[in-house]
Amino acid sequence: MATIVASNSRVPSYPAPAGGQLTAEMLADFDEFGFLILRDFVSVEACDRLRARAAELTEELDPAAVRSVFSALQQTQLGDSYFEESGDKIRFFFESDAFDDNGELRQSKIDSLNKIGHAMHDLDPVFDAFSRTPELAATVGSLNYVDPIVLQSMYILKPPRIGGEVHCHQDSTFLYTEPESCIGFWFALEDATVDNGCMQFIPGAHKGPLKQLHYRDDNGQMTYKTLDDTPWPEGAAVAAEAKAGTLVIFDGRAPHLSGPNLSDQSRHAYTLHVIDKESRYPAGNWLQRGANLPFRGFE
Ligand code: FE2
Repeated sequence: MATIVASNSRVPSYPAPAGGQLTAEMLADFDEFGFLILRDFVSVEACDRLRARAAELTEELDPAAVRSVFSALQQTQLGDSYFEESGDKIRFFFESDAFDDNGELRQSKIDSLNKIGHAMHDLDPVFDAFSRTPELAATVGSLNYVDPIVLQSMYILKPPRIGGEVHCHQDSTFLYTEPESCIGFWFALEDATVDNGCMQFIPGAHKGPLKQLHYRDDNGQMTYKTLDDTPWPEGAAVAAEAKAGTLVIFDGRAPHLSGPNLSDQSRHAYTLHVIDKESRYPAGNWLQRGANLPFRGFE
């Protein structure tokens, strides 16, 4: 259980800046904390449109044909070609507790999924429109990119009762560039609370080293290399509760986690990860694209 919530700590939270451009104060907080909460960045109506589109896409899914499970704890995606080839597709991943002993879904399809990934922003017009607003382009433009490109999109469902826990990790472990350039943009599409498994961050810990690297070894197998084995500090994480429409920006080195969702409320979120095209993108990263779908920025 992820119970390390220091609720009395300050969290860097602001109303979304008009036009999206981050202020000097926001940028200073982002540098200090490694994450930044921007309330009402998108409208509730925009959140509802994305949720409706995710529901439509899920309706077309035949769970008998697709049985891929994504579990951050059990690492079920290792060696799963359905996962590893999803960098330029729209694919569906179930929660590890989605199926009963007879192989039937315990809950509705939409309440059985862990996530949808990883190229909706380039393949689906509704996701594209949500992902490429002038406001988000201005926010990204405030950060230190030469040529920002959107590497991946994920629709994360954290469904009621079976939503899986995610242990503390850094996203640059999985979306590594040289130099590191990954920043996550996490949109709450529904209210995210401690009860339904909101994001938690260890403030300032992004200034420490990258602890692990996920890469393809010489045999073509995805594996992990430990770069720093110091454990994460106990009790240091703070909850980033977020109302629907909130954007949470976090550094690729910012350690974060989320608890399981044992509540009756789903916790849908949408994330984009942006890297700099000027950085080297290793051939050993899990996420690769075919030549038919080149990476794009916010144009
Ligand atoms: Fe993450």
